[in-house]
Amino acid sequence: MTNLPVIGVLGATGVVGREILKILAELNVPYSDIKFLASSRSAGKEIEFKGEKHTIIEATPEAFEGINIILASAGGSTSLAMAPEAVKRGCVFIDNSSAYRMDPEVPLVIVGVNDEDLRKHKGIIANPNCSTSQLMLVLKPLDEEAKIKRLIVSTYQAVSGAGLKAINELRDNTEAALKGEKFENQAFKYEIAFNVIPQIDTFVENGYTKEEMKVTNETRKIMHLADSVPISCTAVRVPVFNSHSEAATIEFEKPITPERAREVLEAAWGVEVLDNPQEFVYPTPKHTAGKDPVYVGRIRKSIAFDNGIDLFCVADNLRIGAALNTVRIAKRVIEMGLY
Ligand SMILES: NC(=O)c1ccc[n+]([C@@H]2O[C@H](COP(=O)([O-])OP(=O)(O)OC[C@H]3O[C@@H](n4cnc5c(N)ncnc54)[C@H](OP(=O)(O)O)[C@@H]3O)[C@@H](O)[C@H]2O)c1
Repeated sequence: MTNLPVIGVLGATGVVGREILKILAELNVPYSDIKFLASSRSAGKEIEFKGEKHTIIEATPEAFEGINIILASAGGSTSLAMAPEAVKRGCVFIDNSSAYRMDPEVPLVIVGVNDEDLRKHKGIIANPNCSTSQLMLVLKPLDEEAKIKRLIVSTYQAVSGAGLKAINELRDNTEAALKGEKFENQAFKYEIAFNVIPQIDTFVENGYTKEEMKVTNETRKIMHLADSVPISCTAVRVPVFNSHSEAATIEFEKPITPERAREVLEAAWGVEVLDNPQEFVYPTPKHTAGKDPVYVGRIRKSIAFDNGIDLFCVADNLRIGAALNTVRIAKRVIEMGLY
């Protein structure tokens, strides 16, 4: 493809949208023109990108005319309404919402893990859930080495994954608690300050939450794991502003030592190993916020399974979990000439 694409950012004014703008500039994504779309509430207002001011356009079906690649983070209902309109007009629609993730016609992609799936797109490409995303970069090289047989994950998820309202609630709730004042929680079912909440999203029939089933189903789809590989997840909200942490127990088909797992992960793209417990070296959310890699540590032989490894990984949920992978997908679509 010789002509550079016209890029559109849908939901440019949101938490994820603003991060997308930052990363588009950081990764130097090439384009011939760029447009910024949001709801009628923002249309006509100005937004700054690479030091220049641009006018925000209302996201109507006609607004997609002439745009080649859309990076969308405007919620599931907007994506459901707008993606078919954009695709009809020749756009590749990269979607951050959960609307199309499990659609068999839509590739669900983590760059560096299953880039080749991009070739199967029919207009829409989905970006995975934040807790799935960080895990994939860690699991893929280990699966190639020893083949995953069983996976058990527990997440410790930051409030930024629940949007601006949740970020404000953690701050206000903490201040109120320290002053001994009464607090009325709105963003969460229970007070989040000095607490953890073992529910993210609503419950489904099997007793898991939607968030937990997203990790299970999306992991299987991205990694092309057979239905016979059992995966289970417990997702917990913790009073951390940014960066999700996850503890994973992985049983493999073939034997793998912690030393070999460490070597494999040290060589893996997008992953950084921080693992020297004797010197108190392991990843924490404070260390990782604002950074790109998925950090992994506490790599040890699991005492629960013969060929088992336990590990702990942490990553910035707003970057690898949302905006960074979306922009990486756009860049790969351009490099692979898939628009
Ligand atoms: N926050 C995360 O960590 C995270 C992670 C992964 C995926 N996501 C997904 O990303 C999406 C956005 O999340 P967010 O946290 O950035 O939300 P947000 O801060 O509330 O931003 C929402 C954006 O969508 C736009 N929008 C809303 N309704 C629209 C409509 N009818 N037509 C066009 N634009 C519309 C808003 O424009 P206005 O300013 O004009 O209202 C705004 O730009 C959601 O689908 C979410 O599930 C979020």
